[in-house]
Amino acid sequence: MIQIGVVGAGAMGSGIAQVAAQNGHSVILSDTQEGALEKSKSKLNKVMTRLIEKGKVTADEAEAIQGRIHYTTSLTDMASCGLVIEAIIERIDIKKTVFQTLEGLVSEECILASNTSSLSIAAIAASVQKAERVVGIHFFNPAPLMPLVEIIPAVQTSEQTLAAARSLIDSWKKVTVVAKDTPGFIVNRVARPFYGEALRMYEEGFADFASIDWAMKEIGGFRMGPFELMDFIGNDVNYAVTESVFAAFYFDGRYKPSFTQKRHSEAGWYGRKSGRGYYDYAEGAVKPEPSISKEMGEAICWRILVMLINEAADALNLNIASAKDIDLAMTKGVNYPKGLLAWANEKGLGHVVETLDRLHSEYLEERYRCSPLLRKIVRDNEQFEL
Ligand SMILES: NC(=O)c1ccc[n+]([C@@H]2O[C@H](COP(=O)([O-])OP(=O)(O)OC[C@H]3O[C@@H](n4cnc5c(N)ncnc54)[C@H](O)[C@@H]3O)[C@@H](O)[C@H]2O)c1
Repeated sequence: MIQIGVVGAGAMGSGIAQVAAQNGHSVILSDTQEGALEKSKSKLNKVMTRLIEKGKVTADEAEAIQGRIHYTTSLTDMASCGLVIEAIIERIDIKKTVFQTLEGLVSEECILASNTSSLSIAAIAASVQKAERVVGIHFFNPAPLMPLVEIIPAVQTSEQTLAAARSLIDSWKKVTVVAKDTPGFIVNRVARPFYGEALRMYEEGFADFASIDWAMKEIGGFRMGPFELMDFIGNDVNYAVTESVFAAFYFDGRYKPSFTQKRHSEAGWYGRKSGRGYYDYAEGAVKPEPSISKEMGEAICWRILVMLINEAADALNLNIASAKDIDLAMTKGVNYPKGLLAWANEKGLGHVVETLDRLHSEYLEERYRCSPLLRKIVRDNEQFEL
């Protein structure tokens, strides 16, 4: 069994190291900060204690898992790894330096992967001599619990690297999907309207946060409403992703960020972690009740759903991933109640196109531009093949 290297012992790196160790690999987990390594170690200890209490692992198994992770501040310890996954700060310059250093240490056969959420895999791969060994392996937070992993080949990635990376992560009992090296890959691209359209409707005074959240949960069947989810992720983090996706798409109006979220972020109203976001998380704070009719809730939910379907259809149109993988990504990466393309088939594609065209003619904004693929499928009287 190959040894796995994980660079960066933050939220993601620690989770990835745990998954690899649980699957029997010896793991080298590195970080430049001693403190981060100590934190990671004690967090894993707490996680294992909970898993023992729940009867998910025995005390012996937990000890073995923890014993398989070796903590270090030096990348030289990665020399005998067969795969190294980088999960450090989201900065291309720093990532490139780490990849260059790694290439000088590991064997010819070692695969070098990045867990980046927003940077180009091609740009990272270009920093090393043997770019064909570089691939994106994108886990979701928390890595031990979220089943989805997006595998992203860069233009330089070889077939062998892609196949080996995918089959290894499959063997970790994860659900893998292959995505094109484009901004946001699948999930972080297709999910944009879940936040963006909810914010837009709030800004236009359709409904308040609690009512929009209620509509998406009660009518849409989503586990969390958009505002609850943004508060959970952190408005600073979610806003930064939106802004970077917007810029990466050459400022396509479809991905335009919202001033409401920007102001919440600027105010330090990040959400749960700061005690206040769209909602107040102070002790004793009362959560506002929804204040709209079921009919209004249905209209809100439909508008967000149509925008999500349009984004999923456009991702398919541009060959970002297969229809099956796009649906899998949204159900396994962000817990959507149904795949968006299957949902579109069920609701009627003609109805989706009509709604988008109505919004487009009302607003005259790129945001509501219907994907040509949706239009074509309706014209040919077909459905998405899943
Ligand atoms: N947090 C998420 O929800 C999430 C989800 C998927 C992917 N990602 C991606 O994963 C990566 C890490 O994100 P995170 O949330 O775990 O960040 P984090 O801030 O929790 O952890 C990053 C860690 O990397 C360490 N580090 C920084 N420079 C380093 C270097 N040169 N060598 C070794 N260690 C170094 C830091 O000390 C820190 O401990 C980013 O690329 C991010 O885009 C994050």
